[in-house]
Amino acid sequence: MLVRDPRGVAWTTGVETSAAKLFAAMHSYFTFRVDAMDRVDCLLREDPEVPAGWVLRGYLLLFSRAGSDMPVAAESLARAEALSQIATPAERLHVSALKAWLNSDALGAQRIWDAILTCMPHDLLALRVQHFNALMLGRPDYLRSLAGRSLADWDDAIPGAGFVYGMVCMGLEEAGEYARAEALGRRGADLEPDDLWSVHSVAHVMEAQGRFSEGLDWMKRPVSFWKGRGPMRHHLLWHEALFLYEAGRFDRALDYYDRRLAPQGASGYLEMSDCASFLVRLEAAGVVCGGRWDDLAEAGRHLVDDRILTFNDVHMLFVLAMAGDGAGLRRLSTSLAGHAMATRSFDAEAAGRISVPLAEALTARMAGDVTGATDRLLAARFAFPHMGGSNAQRDVLDIYLIDCAIASGDTALSRRLLHEYLDLRPGSVPMQTRLSELEAASGDRCRVQPVP
Ligand SMILES: [Fe+2]
Repeated sequence: MLVRDPRGVAWTTGVETSAAKLFAAMHSYFTFRVDAMDRVDCLLREDPEVPAGWVLRGYLLLFSRAGSDMPVAAESLARAEALSQIATPAERLHVSALKAWLNSDALGAQRIWDAILTCMPHDLLALRVQHFNALMLGRPDYLRSLAGRSLADWDDAIPGAGFVYGMVCMGLEEAGEYARAEALGRRGADLEPDDLWSVHSVAHVMEAQGRFSEGLDWMKRPVSFWKGRGPMRHHLLWHEALFLYEAGRFDRALDYYDRRLAPQGASGYLEMSDCASFLVRLEAAGVVCGGRWDDLAEAGRHLVDDRILTFNDVHMLFVLAMAGDGAGLRRLSTSLAGHAMATRSFDAEAAGRISVPLAEALTARMAGDVTGATDRLLAARFAFPHMGGSNAQRDVLDIYLIDCAIASGDTALSRRLLHEYLDLRPGSVPMQTRLSELEAASGDRCRVQPVP
């Protein structure tokens, strides 16, 4: 039978009472609630004839970015495909998108969600999944296009509009359109007070503009707001810690890491990447993080052999290198080189352009060849966006390149890279400090000597 969600989109269920359960599960996913999977499982146990339930289950598993979840996602796909006779055309497209994504064809999945949204712009599930995949594809142009693609079809009166404004905010922020982004993000948070993503997207605006104390205030929410959230809660904590780091309050930032960010056992990819990129920043600022790297290597070890997401691989490379695990770094480097050569996918291409050069740079630096590490990163730097994630997350590669350049003693190059960095992020106290230190030193040292 067909049921309609609050936006009028039709979905198939076996019995009418499944509708509320399906929409509640979707809402849990939209709001990053930790119970989303439990709700889907409960729904499907009681009513297996819900194609969108199997699709949502598959999407949630793929979003975990864990290799161990992939066979289960394949089972969900098979269950969804078996219901194609009763599914709507849009649901069948969702099944195709899940299949494409599962088969590492992320761009193909994006095109299928586009096809759904062209005819059904209020399919919030398609919009949400597409947005988060675009973020991990390292395609700011795709994220930016969401404003034009979606706003014309939404207004405040449509249930869920706040979610859309939060996503558009993120796309505009990544494109540097901060004023419009913030206005929409704040509107999203007002309209949909449960939407973590609107809060998150406005935090990005504040971070990009150097409004660090304002950002810390923005993150202050009632305890009830954070309750029951999944890994995205950890990512919001990371943003809070980032405000402390960017303001140059390193002691407080490290204390915050120890109290609120540090792994409490095996970590998912998002927690692991948040922790790794935060410690890279602190190390580059001169803070010795010591045994925290060993703890992180242990917490992320189960992710090392997953060739699913370049974003994950980049952070795992940092973790192994900074923990001094040369054997682990060699093993991962070999795996990444093989992945880049043997596989045809967006991710494998990104591995070749980002992860492999980074692995070589980290290996060179571990061997004491800081100049070699710098050169390797310089050659790869304009491919950094292919790492995926937000500008603030990809920032870790720029920071590490600058750190290598400074450590290599090439002050002319270091100054130029710092000026580039500060031109984009003028409020960054750690980078202002490093530039001041270099400028206070007497004379430039440059590997390439000008002809007199
Ligand atoms: Fe973020």
